[in-house]
Amino acid sequence: MTKKLNVGLIGYGFMGRTHSNAYRRVTNFFDVPYEPVLQVVCGLVEAEAKAFAERWGYKSHTTDWHKVVEDENIDVVEICVPNNLHAEIAIAAAKAGKAICCEKPLALNVPQAEQMVKAVEESGVPNLVSFNYRRVPAVTLAKQLIDEGRLGKIFHYRANFLQDWTISAKVPQGGMATWRLDIKAAGSGVTGDLLAHCIDTAMWHNGPITDVCAMTETFVKERMHAETGKVEPVGIDDACTFLCHYDNGSLGNFESTRYARGHKALYTFEINGEKASIAWDLHDLHRLSYFDHSDQSIVRGWRSIHVTDSDMPYMDKWWVPGLQIGYEHTFVHQVAEFLQNLAEGKSTSPDFREALATQYVCDAVLTSAKNKKWETVKKP
Ligand SMILES: NC(=O)c1ccc[n+]([C@@H]2O[C@H](COP(=O)([O-])OP(=O)(O)OC[C@H]3O[C@@H](n4cnc5c(N)ncnc54)[C@H](O)[C@@H]3O)[C@@H](O)[C@H]2O)c1
Repeated sequence: MTKKLNVGLIGYGFMGRTHSNAYRRVTNFFDVPYEPVLQVVCGLVEAEAKAFAERWGYKSHTTDWHKVVEDENIDVVEICVPNNLHAEIAIAAAKAGKAICCEKPLALNVPQAEQMVKAVEESGVPNLVSFNYRRVPAVTLAKQLIDEGRLGKIFHYRANFLQDWTISAKVPQGGMATWRLDIKAAGSGVTGDLLAHCIDTAMWHNGPITDVCAMTETFVKERMHAETGKVEPVGIDDACTFLCHYDNGSLGNFESTRYARGHKALYTFEINGEKASIAWDLHDLHRLSYFDHSDQSIVRGWRSIHVTDSDMPYMDKWWVPGLQIGYEHTFVHQVAEFLQNLAEGKSTSPDFREALATQYVCDAVLTSAKNKKWETVKKP
């Protein structure tokens, strides 16, 4: 009989739903060594936590995250709360011997992230950071094509993550709906929220980033705080653009903003190699654009690969060739691999240490923008 694995979820918002959905779906589609049991959900508002528990099948609910971490019955702690709570919860969970899946970015800043890495490594608990875009089949296929050497030497890796939801100066900062705009809760703006995804995927595809030159802008300088009602200075970066070098000699440029009118979540990347190029777009996430220079010139051009065949990453677990999957499935893939590795007592990539490398890049980006100088990225 498959062993039961008791899950404690902290945070029932956007990510709480994606993680719960993944735990509920995973055994239907993947052969995993555990049967997840949704034991307890925790969040700020009692009535909401209760309603969430009823809707998603959690056995109990609480408003005190310490109760989840200290519960001897809990095997895995899922951290799906604003960034300022990640470190305290993860360190307590590591000390209590729980396996941990933490949402990105790992922490508010580098010192916190380093303490979190120390805590999980000292206690030896399996850990994972939820950079879920790696597990879009087309993005995983891009990694496979690069590792097979199909692109040859890589010259350029560029990525964008564009949104438009904070253009109005009337959007408040802070509080539960808009904590992302409050520097104390978020740590940074688009750099930690959006570029962290692009940086994680870029370094997974193309290796370490060595140095960066960045600029950031805060277009709306003051916003009302949702909790105090007071107008306060805005501390986050609304937009960030940076150039970088990779360890392999290639060049990178990255852009993220919440002021690109018309774009809701346009995450794109393009990689140019000696022999081939790859491009991907989150709004068309099941397709990978691929240009192979070795094709005969009369038929050479960008191909649009529909990543749905059963020999493509993850797709043998889903429907039949030609039928697509979407955003939520990336979390199912993440949980499936987390559970496989847990059975062997291992962490899952990207673990806390890999996420620390991304935190170092984010930190260097913000420092570079502040000092208006190139900044060397610390090595993890
Ligand atoms: N992987 C991704 O693509 C992705 C996408 C969105 C968010 N995130 C990350 O996930 C995390 C959560 O973001 P979200 O969008 O789900 O936020 P959200 O605002 O939708 O939900 C936050 C949850 O945290 C709970 N919470 C807040 N303070 C708490 C406390 N003191 N004790 C217990 N619970 C508390 C709230 O009740 C709420 O349920 C963030 O770190 C964010 O960066 C990742």
